[in-house]
Parts: sequence; structure tokens; C-alpha cells
Amino acid sequence: MSIEASNLSYTYSAKTPFEKTALFDLSFTINKGETVGIIGSTGSGKSTLVQHFNALIKLTSGKLVVCDIDLSLKKVPFKQLRSKVGMLFQYPEYQLFEDTVLKDVSFGPINFGFDKEQALIAAEAALSLVGVDVKEVKTKSPFELSGGEQRRVAIAGVIASKPEILVLDEPTSGLDPLGKRSILNLLMELKKSFCDTVIMISHNMDEIAEYCDRVLVLNEGKLIFDGTPKDFFHNPGNLAETGLKIPHTVEIRELLKNKGVSLSSDCLNVNELTEAIVASGILKKREGKNGS
Ligand SMILES: Nc1ncnc2c1ncn2[C@@H]1O[C@H](COP(=O)(O)OP(=O)(O)O)[C@@H](O)[C@H]1O
Ligand SMILES: [Mg+2]
Repeated sequence: MSIEASNLSYTYSAKTPFEKTALFDLSFTINKGETVGIIGSTGSGKSTLVQHFNALIKLTSGKLVVCDIDLSLKKVPFKQLRSKVGMLFQYPEYQLFEDTVLKDVSFGPINFGFDKEQALIAAEAALSLVGVDVKEVKTKSPFELSGGEQRRVAIAGVIASKPEILVLDEPTSGLDPLGKRSILNLLMELKKSFCDTVIMISHNMDEIAEYCDRVLVLNEGKLIFDGTPKDFFHNPGNLAETGLKIPHTVEIRELLKNKGVSLSSDCLNVNELTEAIVASGILKKREGKNGS
């Protein structure tokens, strides 16, 4: 088990006039090896929840165990926890701060107790995993790089310490569609090669539909769904409550349904939808009509 939460609640500025409860009584588990999407509209509590996973926010109510570390203990081993849970925030390039790329990426491993030489080896390995030209960039300032390269270097900084869980808070925001796809493909490659569990917050339902095995859906701080994306998007009515957009694939499926073409509600990603459209025979009927 990677993460086990029971009755987790959280209130900002408790017992002040600004008190705001952001999470209500959440219970769920995340298993080793899963790719889990956390979705919900702005303000639903997603960031507050994931910041509990590496104790950036202190657990105040309920129980939370992350990589076998009980966060309700009086003395939480923060360093050990943070070496196991790599966290990538929105606009991760803002996490860059050192004067060279290599120093930046080796900061994490040094902080988590690698000796300097091991840290530099880990940093170079991480940089080559994220697909930048290590020789070319390692002595440059991170601020001289392009936006896409900066994001890759920031990711290298998180994975260099070999975390067991990678938590990504909107990893593709601000990128163009090609940039988004290349970062997501990179993350999935990384998952295959070493990082067991990936937890991803995203506003983009197409990304969630394509990349996640499971979704946790938050609405006003409450967990309102825990299951597969297929089950969640099966009934687009589920989304009305959350203010989320439906994935484009589901939108096309529903449009066709309204026009009398019923496709299996199991198709979710682009390949599945294409196959279902071909299997439905509507393309042949059209060809016939056009006489071609
Ligand atoms: N530092 C803070 N102080 C007070 N309230 C906060 C703070 N951070 C977030 N909140 C409130 O907690 C709720 C959940 O916020 P957040 O976890 O950032 O949601 P999300 O990531 O889903 O957009 C929101 O109502 C937000 O205004
Ligand atoms: Mg957020």
C-alpha cells in the first residue's frame, strides 16, 4: 500500500474568523503501482490533500500512512518521507533556483543524504532520463533554458532522489498541446522505468481519461467518487455536480448517441473511440451515401 487515509479532515486558520474547512472526512487507499488522478473544480481541496502526502501540510485530523510512515506520530521522519514522495507543483520551473542545472538537480539527493559524487551521478542519470542533452545543459543556468527544457530539468530534480511516489499538481498547465503530450509521455515512461506510483492532479479530463487507472473526485472538500475513469465518465451526468468538463471523447460519444448512433460507453481514449466508430458501421453508410 502506498497511501492509506482514514477520516482525513483539514481546516485552515482553525478557531479564527478566517476558518475554512478544506477537507471533510476523506478515506481512501492508493496502491503501489497505480496512476491515480485527483480531480475536482478549483477550490475543491486537491492541493490541500496532496500537500498532506509529504507533510507540507501537517496532519491535524484523521489518520494518514504514506509509504509505511504514520503521519499521525508525534515525530514524523520528514526527510525520509520527503525522499519517498516526490512532489512537483504547478509551474515546476519556479522550483528551479541554483546557478547551474547540475547543482539544481543534485540538490535533492544531497539533501536526502547521498554523498556529493553519488548525487552528481544521480543528477546526470535523471537528466538523461528526462531527455535533455546532459553535456549541453549541465553547466548552464536553468534560467537560460527554454520553458519545455526547464520543466524537464525540474522533473529531473524531483526524480533524482528516486522517490517511490510521484505527486504532480497540474504538471502540464501553461504548455501547448504538444508540450503537454510530451511531458505526460515522459512521466509515463518514468513510471515504467522506476517510479511505482503516480498521483496526478489535472483539470484536463482528456489527460485523466487517457493516463489514469483510477480517479478520486473531490467536490467542496468531500470525496464523491473513487473508481475507474471508465465508471466515472460512463454517466456524464456525474460531472454536472462537480463543474468539470467531460473529455472530448465522451462528448463525441454523447453527440453521436443523440444522433441515434449508440457506441459502447466503455470507449474512453481516442483509440477506443475510433475503433467503436469504425465498428458501428457509420463510416461505411456515409461512404455508400456519397457513392464513393
Ligand atoms: N492557505 C490557505 N488559507 C486559507 N484557505 C485556504 C488556503 N489554501 C487554500 N485554502 C482554501 O481551501 C480550499 C481548498 O483549496 P485548494 O486545496 O487549493 O483547492 P484546489 O487545489 O482544488 O483548487 C479553498 O476554499 C481555498 O480557498
Ligand atoms: Mg490546486
